[in-house]
Amino acid sequence: MTEVLVLYYSRGGSVARLARQIARGIGEVDGVQARLRTVPPVAAVTQTAAPPVPEDGAPYVESRDLVECAGLVLGSPTRFGNMAAPVKHWLDGLGAEWASGTLVGKPAAVFTSTATQHGGQESTLLTMMVPLLHHGCVILGIPYTEPTLSSTRGGGTPYGASHVAGAQDDPQPSEDEAKLARALGRRVAELVAKVSR
Ligand SMILES: Cc1cc2nc3c(=O)[nH]c(=O)nc-3n(C[C@H](O)[C@H](O)[C@H](O)COP(=O)(O)O)c2cc1C
Repeated sequence: MTEVLVLYYSRGGSVARLARQIARGIGEVDGVQARLRTVPPVAAVTQTAAPPVPEDGAPYVESRDLVECAGLVLGSPTRFGNMAAPVKHWLDGLGAEWASGTLVGKPAAVFTSTATQHGGQESTLLTMMVPLLHHGCVILGIPYTEPTLSSTRGGGTPYGASHVAGAQDDPQPSEDEAKLARALGRRVAELVAKVSR
């Protein structure tokens, strides 16, 4: 079975729910399945570090996940119009993988969640793509041939999947957001299936 790594950070559960929809979309493609992983939180030296394994949810990502997976879908909550520090911290630790070209030629996509409709989804998604381009990934978005992209009143962008969670961070994606997240997962998996033949 060819695997696509769905890697995310989520504190309130919104990005985690989108990750599960993306994983469903990946699983709709024959011969491809999702491998769900999270990045650990970062802590100042004065704070307690995270446990080595999360108490619930997906396990923490390891270097071999990047080697073994044929594609990557990376998710982060929006923090001040950008990715959250734990995701950037994880990316900043990938010097060895960059040097050995671990991700070169692998299809990749991004997803996010915000409190507000215009709170920076697009800036987060676009800036998350930049390090992936340095790693040689083949970046995919969502094309307008997905009719829901033109009708969604919440999240879902050509740059990647997204969710508008509101001020209380309601983690439940709308039907349109979930549909677009599955479409993105499916799209990455379809390309992975083609290039890994
Ligand atoms: C420090 C901080 C910064 C945030 N910055 C933004 C922002 O720029 N725009 C926005 O709409 N929401 C912002 N949010 C809200 C989160 O993006 C939103 O609640 C998201 O759904 C959280 O995802 P999660 O439930 O997966 O952790 C911010 C939240 C925090 C804690």
